[in-house]
Amino acid sequence: MSKKTAVVTGANAGLGFAISAALLQKDYRVVMACRNASKADAARKRLLDQVPGADVSVLPLDVSELDSVAAFAEQFAQQFGELELLINNAGIVAQPFTRNDAGHELQMATNYLGNFALVGRLLPLFSAQRPGRIVNVGSLAHRFGKLPLDDMNWDKGDFRPMKGYARSKVALLTFTQELNRRLAGRNIIALAAHPGFAATDITAGNPAMQPKNALQRWIRGKVEPLIPTPTEAARPILHAALAEGVRGGDYYGPGGLFEIAGKPATAKLNPRTKNTAHAQRLWSLTEEMTGVRYLDVRA
Ligand SMILES: NC(=O)c1ccc[n+]([C@@H]2O[C@H](COP(=O)([O-])OP(=O)(O)OC[C@H]3O[C@@H](n4cnc5c(N)ncnc54)[C@H](OP(=O)(O)O)[C@@H]3O)[C@@H](O)[C@H]2O)c1
Repeated sequence: MSKKTAVVTGANAGLGFAISAALLQKDYRVVMACRNASKADAARKRLLDQVPGADVSVLPLDVSELDSVAAFAEQFAQQFGELELLINNAGIVAQPFTRNDAGHELQMATNYLGNFALVGRLLPLFSAQRPGRIVNVGSLAHRFGKLPLDDMNWDKGDFRPMKGYARSKVALLTFTQELNRRLAGRNIIALAAHPGFAATDITAGNPAMQPKNALQRWIRGKVEPLIPTPTEAARPILHAALAEGVRGGDYYGPGGLFEIAGKPATAKLNPRTKNTAHAQRLWSLTEEMTGVRYLDVRA
């Protein structure tokens, strides 16, 4: 049997790097889908140091731009042909208000719309012989998020970076549920997982998430040593990707206090993500926003 192929978005850093290393150790072929070629090449070399002889490649993907998603899928089809596992891990948090080329708010574009489009583009390439999984990376923050379908782009609302992040992750997790329903009868499941907290660039390199006064710096100093490493925090995502007995629609996270750290366990979903009528409206709206249409329920 040939190796199974996994696409990991945002594989050059943080959790995506840890996920890729673990998949290579399990003898997967890993395609790193990354927007920054030099960072990705350096990360690929580090992966090869960790897992000598591993089958790991880089393909360019800026998941926030729909043209890049389409180009990635085309190049992937030509170079690799098929896949068994897609991990939609790339993400941004607490960014100031920005729009992508299509005019979509950037966190929504990166954390949700691009993933919707990528799944649609790659779906025809999933192996016909072996079971497939699509794993979307959520966040604890989604539990406090809302998803007003009449304001996906913050045209009306008063934009707040963390609210924008939570909104994008509610969209992603609502999509995961609907995607899995629409995959019924195929040999592919969609599920999700979140890492709790992890010491990665998403917080360390983000000015919006730095302590703003002496007290916050003191608290950060005390808490920092307790924050899980990317390797530890990647475990729920790897559980969703690899464990036997998981089911489509499942959501995993760290099983410890407040789902911040610990061994993989079933995690709490915001009830909003389970509303099927809302999910179907989100799906139709997303098809319009991305121009990518698939798994039509009316077909
Ligand atoms: N760390 C946490 O505590 C935490 C908690 C909850 C959820 N998460 C989720 O975990 C996932 C991974 O985050 P992380 O903590 O590993 O953060 P990270 O270290 O900042 O890594 C994020 C990765 O995503 C990539 N990325 C960002 N925007 C992209 C785009 N438009 N196209 C392609 N790649 C893009 C980054 O590429 P560059 O290197 O080029 O920027 C990087 O490779 C995210 O979905 C995040 O929301 C993280």
